[in-house]
Amino acid sequence: MTLTTAGSIELLLSAQNATGAIPASPVHDVYQYGWLRDGSWCAYALQRAGQADAASRWHHWVAATLLSHRHRFAEATDAVRNGVITGRSMLPARFTLEGSEEPQGESEEEWPNFQTDCYGFWLWALADHLTHGGELDDVLRDASELVVGYLLVAGETPCFDCWEEHPGNVHTSSLAAVAAGLRDMGALLQDEAAQRYALQLLQRITGPEHVLGGAFIRFPGDTCVDGSLLWLAIPFNLVTVDDPLFQNTLSRIRDELLVPDGGLRRYLGDTFYGGSEWILLAATYGWVAVASGDRATAGRMLDWIEAAATPEGLLPEQVQNHVQSPYMLEFWRRRWGATATPLLWSHAMHIVLREELGSKR
Ligand code: BGC
Repeated sequence: MTLTTAGSIELLLSAQNATGAIPASPVHDVYQYGWLRDGSWCAYALQRAGQADAASRWHHWVAATLLSHRHRFAEATDAVRNGVITGRSMLPARFTLEGSEEPQGESEEEWPNFQTDCYGFWLWALADHLTHGGELDDVLRDASELVVGYLLVAGETPCFDCWEEHPGNVHTSSLAAVAAGLRDMGALLQDEAAQRYALQLLQRITGPEHVLGGAFIRFPGDTCVDGSLLWLAIPFNLVTVDDPLFQNTLSRIRDELLVPDGGLRRYLGDTFYGGSEWILLAATYGWVAVASGDRATAGRMLDWIEAAATPEGLLPEQVQNHVQSPYMLEFWRRRWGATATPLLWSHAMHIVLREELGSKR
């Protein structure tokens, strides 16, 4: 079966719970949670694909879930103010599909959960939904104000990155998600403090700590480029695609992370499932190419993505044609089984890239 936009939309819709929750993957055992990052991307894609009701259901699920954890926001902001942050004091990246925090085991942080970008992503996707006809009702207003208040306090706290790795750092793409979310929802809520803080974050991101040799790096003190830095221009529009800082970052991404026959690695030295090529990053790279007027590259990315679909039309998280470490691929397969397939975020990005290329392709 060939993968079509309709197929990706149908898959997202059928995976959404009656409550509005969207799991990272409907089948993979360990991905049965609603990640604010993945689900917000899915809602964004659904909104673009004309499925505003489904996007609204996701945003209401997030809002209801967060409002039922209101006490956790107070605990988290107290923790930051008192300098006693632990993985458990901060708000989680994911909730069970019933809207609860996942059961905690014995160690402090079995699976990294403190990732500020998730809350930035939600605000950004919610603002997009609201500017395309969604209604800012009391539930969405209350929950988004709660998140804005949280990010105003916790936005620059060292945490795990969007890949749930590298704890204890202030990640460039996490700051970018927070800045974009606060800028966009700050405008809709007419919250001047949020908008001011977003500008401050942008200054920090483009300042010397997050830049090396004229290109963005993934966190201060590090030297690596990371595929998530694409988000600074697309979709966050914090810098333009032709900004020299972004252009230099893009050159590094092309030279270091792009695999010759298509597909993008997250970063050099990645070991998760061997550190192979990610569908969602290939789609983002294609989207950046469209924005730069390079439709041919975007078309090649789309072809590569569609060729990676299973015969049933399902997209994995990663394609293992050029693994960085075959041993680590084997390690993760033994631990968690095959790479998550379908990964709904991959399908969301497939929808977005197809939309971007439009019918003129
Ligand atoms: C990725 C995260 C993602 C999660 C669920 C992890 O492997 O690194 O970015 O949110 O899976 O899809």
